Amino acid sequence: MSEQTSFYDEVGGHDVFRRIVDAFYREVAADDILRPMYPEEDLGPAAERLLLFLEQYWGGPTTYGETRGHPRLRMRHMPFHVNPEARDRWLRAMRIAVDEAQLSPLHEATLWDYLQRAAHAMVNTFEPTGAGPTTEPRGGTNLPLHPGA
Ligand code: HEM
Repeated sequence: MSEQTSFYDEVGGHDVFRRIVDAFYREVAADDILRPMYPEEDLGPAAERLLLFLEQYWGGPTTYGETRGHPRLRMRHMPFHVNPEARDRWLRAMRIAVDEAQLSPLHEATLWDYLQRAAHAMVNTFEPTGAGPTTEPRGGTNLPLHPGA
């Protein structure tokens, strides 16, 4: 039992996370660096995975873990060419999505701080876009599962 409400509840729960993720993928769909990185033609399933992950991370339902297991996000991004350019495009799309959600300044700052740190941690190559997959194993630490973990 916890007496504290979660960040998830504080910002407005599922509807707010849904709105952020939908806006983010609308931007991804229009981005010439990001869009080709997504293996599936339909971005819907990828949007669902990001939504469930973010909801779980911020104290909402744990459906992500029940269906996908441990996030191991750095590992799951290894097949993709996440260079600083891709990171900056990802953050640009997310910035628009977060702005549209019109969170309180404190919630906005908390969420944005996390997203920036996570995006920087996801970079796994400095090869320019279009250089093909990197063959070197790119190890690294995993991101924490919860704020403060
Ligand atoms: C830095 C730039 C990033 C790029 C270019 C990128 C790109 C991708 C791509 C191409 C996928 C595969 C799509 C799919 O699920 O089928 C993916 C999956 C995913 N990404 Fe990212 N990503 C980035 C950063 C992040 C960050 C910062 C987070 C979390 C805060 C994140 C969370 C996820 C999640 C949860 C999945 C699905 C993992 C699973 O398979 O369960 N990504 N990403």
